[in-house]
Amino acid sequence: VKRTPFIAGNWKMNLDHLQAIAFVQKLAWSLQDAKHDFDSVEVAVFPPFTDLRSVQTLVSADKLPLAYGAQDVSAQDSGAYTGEISGAFLSQLDCRYVIIGHSERRTLHAETDEVVRAKTAAALKHGIVPVICVGETAEDLEKHGSSAVPVAQLRAALEGVSADAEIVVAYEPVWAIGSGQAATPDQAEAVAAALRGVIAEALGDDAAARTRILYGGSVKSGNIAGFMREPNVDGALVGGASLDVTEFSNIARYQ
Ligand code: G3H
Repeated sequence: VKRTPFIAGNWKMNLDHLQAIAFVQKLAWSLQDAKHDFDSVEVAVFPPFTDLRSVQTLVSADKLPLAYGAQDVSAQDSGAYTGEISGAFLSQLDCRYVIIGHSERRTLHAETDEVVRAKTAAALKHGIVPVICVGETAEDLEKHGSSAVPVAQLRAALEGVSADAEIVVAYEPVWAIGSGQAATPDQAEAVAAALRGVIAEALGDDAAARTRILYGGSVKSGNIAGFMREPNVDGALVGGASLDVTEFSNIARYQ
């Protein structure tokens, strides 16, 4: 099974809706100028909620070959949930993806494995591909090694997911996020292989073979190629380096 490499930019709380329009336009031009083959390497951006309408308008009007998604979704469909955003709203904005369980959500917003599972189910229900984030803290790494926590987090997230569902998994060691200290390609590969095993157990071998597993944590144009050479790493979830058009476009053109 061929898995299309996936380079995803998580903007976090950066770039307002005006900056987003300029950024997405420049990114598309930069990649098109470089003759980027979007079918060979998929490129996606994950702007703040308030940018999504602008991004949708631009992408559809200019027929840009970029995918986009949200950084979070509510586990609920609608109702008295002040501040929450439903998967139905995101699918109306043509979001193909949504990030779920990013370590910043788990840490700063106390998202548990149960919440991550419910949000994963909500995304799938609304036809949005969940990008399920897992990863160990420095303390977990010391106590349990690299795989144990991400493996447990993914097992929990996949409970109740059907075998034919499309999902993406992002392995993001918390100690590598925004620290400038990326995991080594070997470290990322070892955990990605373990995560593929979890997908096989939970959803079967076909799902394991077709599901893309990304590495995230201090990815830059200078280190992306090493990760992409690993057999179980199918792409990257990029934070800081996704906010610079040239740098992000170089990451997407890692080959
Ligand atoms: O979602 C992206 C990750 O948190 C990685 O962030 O590339 O700034 O380390 P970073």
